[in-house]
Amino acid sequence: HHLTQTIFPAPLEEITAELKSTGRWEGELIHTRRDGTQVVVASRWALQLDERAKPVAVLETNNDITERKRAEEALHKAQGELAHVTRVATLGEMTASISHEVNQPLAAVITNANACLRWLARQSPDLDEARAAVERIIRDGSRASEVIGRIRALVKKSPPRQDWLSINDIILEVIALARSEMHMNRVSLQTQLADSLPLVLADRVQLQQVLLNLIVNGIEAMNRSSEGTRELGVSTEKDGLNRVLIAVRDSGVGLNPESLEHLFDPFYTTKPDGMGMGLAISRSIIEAHGGRLWATLNAPCGAVFQFTLPHDGERVS
Ligand SMILES: Nc1ncnc2c1ncn2[C@@H]1O[C@H](COP(=O)(O)OP(=O)(O)OP(=O)(O)O)[C@@H](O)[C@H]1O
Ligand SMILES: [Mg+2]
Repeated sequence: HHLTQTIFPAPLEEITAELKSTGRWEGELIHTRRDGTQVVVASRWALQLDERAKPVAVLETNNDITERKRAEEALHKAQGELAHVTRVATLGEMTASISHEVNQPLAAVITNANACLRWLARQSPDLDEARAAVERIIRDGSRASEVIGRIRALVKKSPPRQDWLSINDIILEVIALARSEMHMNRVSLQTQLADSLPLVLADRVQLQQVLLNLIVNGIEAMNRSSEGTRELGVSTEKDGLNRVLIAVRDSGVGLNPESLEHLFDPFYTTKPDGMGMGLAISRSIIEAHGGRLWATLNAPCGAVFQFTLPHDGERVS
């Protein structure tokens, strides 16, 4: 190589200080070649000492990891694209219930606007009633715009974020989106959300995607079951190990040994129009957040999907 420039991950003084105190240093260097291309190099330095423990040389081992880096980045990007595509697909399947969710407050807006006109058209206009109607219009208008806002956030392609979030708030937002979907499928929802849970450092949209996947899967499992009860349970709690535990349980068809083994495999699906990516993506999202996602059987029937997220125990909602 004809190297013209090297970028070190730390100031040279720090590197030499570490080399002097520990005898070694490891890091990634970025070399710029004369033709302008960059190579990423994993570099290992070891201090060579003479018999009197005086430094005489630095042994440097370099490995070109440019390709590996590029592959990692490409994989990362592909995962993000896939997550986005499946998120949009899930929302696409929910169009009927989502439009219902928007249309309902809009219908209420029109009803209240008409009522308001009538209060004003009276011989002696009833301003108190008119004002109350306008207040309901504002409330319902904001409700509709909140639904649209949440959908936009899920559809938009945005770089991953790390924010301190309340998992309960995220759950309530997803439930608001999926409420009509549950209603249309005659599913009753039970929530058990623990008070004052610590905040988690996470990407809101990604966690919403995981929860939406689990809830939609639960509804679909109950649609494929002849069981009488159609109950979806969502709960949160703090486990003793600095983690928040989130569970989504259903009373659907449940899991046989075959599906238990393959649930999280990409493209594993038992649904005629399923893509089989929901759980694979959900698991990679949770693992990227430092947590775990797994499935067990529910009693007397159905499945439970649980995941953990680490928290720092200090920031509380
Ligand atoms: N709550 C559940 N109860 C029973 N089986 C489930 C449940 N959730 C998932 N499964 C099984 O796991 C399979 C994979 O689920 P996954 O969400 O990954 O894909 P999918 O729902 O089939 O398709 P999509 O990509 O549209 O989500 C499902 O086809 C189903 O057989
Ligand atoms: Mg699914």
